Amino acid sequence: MPRITFIEPDGTVRLVDAEPHESAMQAAKRNGVDGIIGECGGSCICATCHCHVDEAWLDRVGPAGDIEADLLEFEAADVRPESRLACQIQITEALDGLVLHVAGRSR
Ligand code: FES
Repeated sequence: MPRITFIEPDGTVRLVDAEPHESAMQAAKRNGVDGIIGECGGSCICATCHCHVDEAWLDRVGPAGDIEADLLEFEAADVRPESRLACQIQITEALDGLVLHVAGRSR
């Protein structure tokens, strides 16, 4: 079972066991990770699941798609090159050990 480390906006570290093929957002919600709201349920329209992918994982996670990148640009705060929406990151065994920093919400 892939394990993901979420670092909440206040620095709290949460280790989460994710099910393969669920999204990082779903894994975060099941485990009460602070700062991941997932308001749209993973439809890529709310940006309330914004994370910064840890630098060591950028290549394996890959960049945001076009629709995701547009949503980040228009709806999210503190957008960086390593920004992703957790609902668009599908968990696989290859992502065991992934580290995601939950983005703050204030612009
Ligand atoms: S849950 Fe809404 S964009 Fe990710």
